[in-house]
Amino acid sequence: MQAFTFTTTKTILNEAGSATRLGELCKDQGARSVLIVTDPGIRKVGLLDKVLPGFASAGVKVAVFDETEADPSDVTVLKAVDLGKAHKVDLVVGFGGGSSMDVAKLVAFLAAPKCSQSLPDMYGVNNAKGARLPLIQVPTTAGTGSEVTPIAIVTTGATTKSGVVSSILQPDIALLDAELTLGLPPQVTAATGIDAMVHAIEAYTSRHKKNPVSDMLAREALKLLSANIITAVKEGGHVEARSKMLLGALLAGQAFANAPVAAVHALAYPLGGHFHIPHGLSNSLVLPHVMRFNAPNAAREYAELAPIIMGRECKPGTAAKQAEHLIDWIEDLVMEVELPARLRDCKVPENFLGKLAADAMLQQRLLVNNPRDVTEKDALDIYRAAF
Ligand SMILES: NC(=O)c1ccc[n+]([C@@H]2O[C@H](COP(=O)([O-])OP(=O)(O)OC[C@H]3O[C@@H](n4cnc5c(N)ncnc54)[C@H](O)[C@@H]3O)[C@@H](O)[C@H]2O)c1
Ligand SMILES: [Fe+2]
Repeated sequence: MQAFTFTTTKTILNEAGSATRLGELCKDQGARSVLIVTDPGIRKVGLLDKVLPGFASAGVKVAVFDETEADPSDVTVLKAVDLGKAHKVDLVVGFGGGSSMDVAKLVAFLAAPKCSQSLPDMYGVNNAKGARLPLIQVPTTAGTGSEVTPIAIVTTGATTKSGVVSSILQPDIALLDAELTLGLPPQVTAATGIDAMVHAIEAYTSRHKKNPVSDMLAREALKLLSANIITAVKEGGHVEARSKMLLGALLAGQAFANAPVAAVHALAYPLGGHFHIPHGLSNSLVLPHVMRFNAPNAAREYAELAPIIMGRECKPGTAAKQAEHLIDWIEDLVMEVELPARLRDCKVPENFLGKLAADAMLQQRLLVNNPRDVTEKDALDIYRAAF
């Protein structure tokens, strides 16, 4: 058997309604002063109102950084670090979607008293080294799985996204409270849910680090996500569907943290960078087209996933045929959850596709995991198909 390493967040707490006990949980970790990193949308819908009273009753001081934007910038990270340092915080909570959780990871590292590195030193794989503050992640979207990954994605400059990948960013605790996700708008539910599905699909076909544990997690994640995404989108208040989406996203996160994502994400990032298309939607726009491109090298894996994702046995046929069915099914799903399906629907001009392809080539960290080599011309053909 191929050698592999598997790591994940040490503690996972899963209980609807449990976020009200966040203050107590921080106290149990020995915290006296906590920074919660979140975003203005979450503050506005009142999700913090469920957790802040618990800090007062636990006697734990709390400061809130609520300026995280979608696809957070390096400037935002540094602002949050300053707030954390000003309050001498000894624990950081990420409370939100991937954007807030990613910022929280970087703050936990950069606001640690003995940190001697700066943010630019951290970009890349295993460049962030040393200690960090304790870190609890509370996802409010069922998408990125950031609560169980050692990854933070930052927008650097005007349009480029850079990743920090380091075991030091692996959170200590993931707290899943599905009640926090009940008010997530349909389009965000759909896009973040597809993001989670992409994590599992790309982990399952990851070129070098695919392994039996990540495979098992990816399969279970896809079972939960594909069976519940439509209900979660159409009946937002369905707690059971929301709980399964949240767990599915976590399992997909565990899978891709150990068997990394590939060309779907590599081609999605330039769309977020240039056009501010949300991360999940960017993935959804290129997903079927990358899968069609990958099929010659990944048909067997796609055929294995097909009955799990579609929730029914495939008609007998070659792996290639079953892969094709799966890709068609995914295209139907995108329509069913009412996400735009084409780049032109998202105001991407056709004459920009070449620039997107050139930028996608910069994501070699991800492209090396793809089951099929991707050249710049291939990337352009995929964007053309998605246009
Ligand atoms: N660290 C990782 O492993 C990883 C993986 C994938 C993506 N990412 C990054 O994560 C970011 C995307 O995260 P995301 O897709 O979760 O979106 P997000 O965090 O940007 O949030 C999207 C929007 O949803 C709103 N929202 C979140 N939860 C809500 C709730 N419960 N109710 C109402 N509104 C709510 C927010 O206010 C925001 O406007 C990107 O920056 C992406 O690059 C990180
Ligand atoms: Fe993603």
